[in-house]
Amino acid sequence: MANVLLTGGAGYIGSHTAVALAERGHQVVILDNFRNSQRDVPDRLLRLTGKSFPVIEADIRDTAACSAALAAHPVDAVIHFAALKAVGESEADPLLYYDMNIIGTIRLLEAMQAQNIRRIVFSSSATVYGQPDTSPILENFPTRVQSIYGRTKLVMENLITDLARTGKLLAAANLRYVNPVGAHPSAVIGETPTGVPNNLMPFMCQVATGQREFLSVFGNDYNTPDGTGVRDYIHVVDLANAHALALEYLLANDVAVTVNLGTGIGISVLDLVNAFEKTTGRAVPYKIMPRRPGDVASYFANPGAAEKLFGWKAALNVDDMCRDSWTWEAKRAGINDV
Ligand SMILES: NC(=O)c1ccc[n+]([C@@H]2O[C@H](COP(=O)([O-])OP(=O)(O)OC[C@H]3O[C@@H](n4cnc5c(N)ncnc54)[C@H](O)[C@@H]3O)[C@@H](O)[C@H]2O)c1
Repeated sequence: MANVLLTGGAGYIGSHTAVALAERGHQVVILDNFRNSQRDVPDRLLRLTGKSFPVIEADIRDTAACSAALAAHPVDAVIHFAALKAVGESEADPLLYYDMNIIGTIRLLEAMQAQNIRRIVFSSSATVYGQPDTSPILENFPTRVQSIYGRTKLVMENLITDLARTGKLLAAANLRYVNPVGAHPSAVIGETPTGVPNNLMPFMCQVATGQREFLSVFGNDYNTPDGTGVRDYIHVVDLANAHALALEYLLANDVAVTVNLGTGIGISVLDLVNAFEKTTGRAVPYKIMPRRPGDVASYFANPGAAEKLFGWKAALNVDDMCRDSWTWEAKRAGINDV
């Protein structure tokens, strides 16, 4: 059993990870500035787990606040989720992204160093691969970042790898996630995007609730079985469990690793629409639009390293992803028939 600080622990992936850690008997402390999360998340976590997690409202860029938090709550490791994550916003405001993500990570690592906390699990992203030539993607594929957001993730990875290489950190895992979707099956926690969702699943849910008229499918002439883009989606509960297992691996091994987290199964846009309609009974009207520049035909991860190192494998399938996304989104939209 470990004591763990989750930066960004009130966010989408962080809150699900808090549940996964609590279920495995770990003690969780949350540090979040609530910039992109709801203030009632800690209450929701209490309802779900029966545990009240200490919550520190602080910004990771504030070294003194992070040091004080770590001094007040001595932990064995940090899981570092706190970051900004919107590609479009990163292109519109690069300095904000460099400041929040890179300076924020440096300040956090300084605070960890001051308190002699030397184990970290880091939220990276498969976006660091850019447009890979082939799939499944292996961790040794070249990194070809295509956005400022992606670049910040790669710099954050490099910071962590360098500190591990020079002995400042004892153990570190850079976890490169594919596309997280879904919500806790209780529908007590989930993703709360504001404005127009950037991602396919939340957008599709909003079409199904009637908040949006139709789904735009960008391109149906790719070299894929049905012509639409193929991606790897991962249920957030599987992703959360992967963090718990990665943490336990780092507690037992003084190593630095970079690991993909995905199902390894490519799902096309139309596969996802069909699975959603089948599992929810809701129609998702869609229109085929021209391809978007920069989109690749097919993109999915090889998750073999995660299985080998952490003993982790995705357990939930595309129907689970659709069902749990819909239950959460329908509840948010006040639809009673779910
Ligand atoms: N959701 C995805 O599609 C995805 C994919 C790959 C990687 N990631 C990475 O996973 C991590 C978590 O993503 P998420 O989807 O849960 O995002 P999220 O926005 O729901 O969670 C991030 C949390 O961090 C907090 N935060 C942001 N900046 C902070 C700061 N400076 N100080 C303290 N707290 C701060 C936010 O308030 C929020 O609660 C991020 O690092 C993201 O880059 C996400």
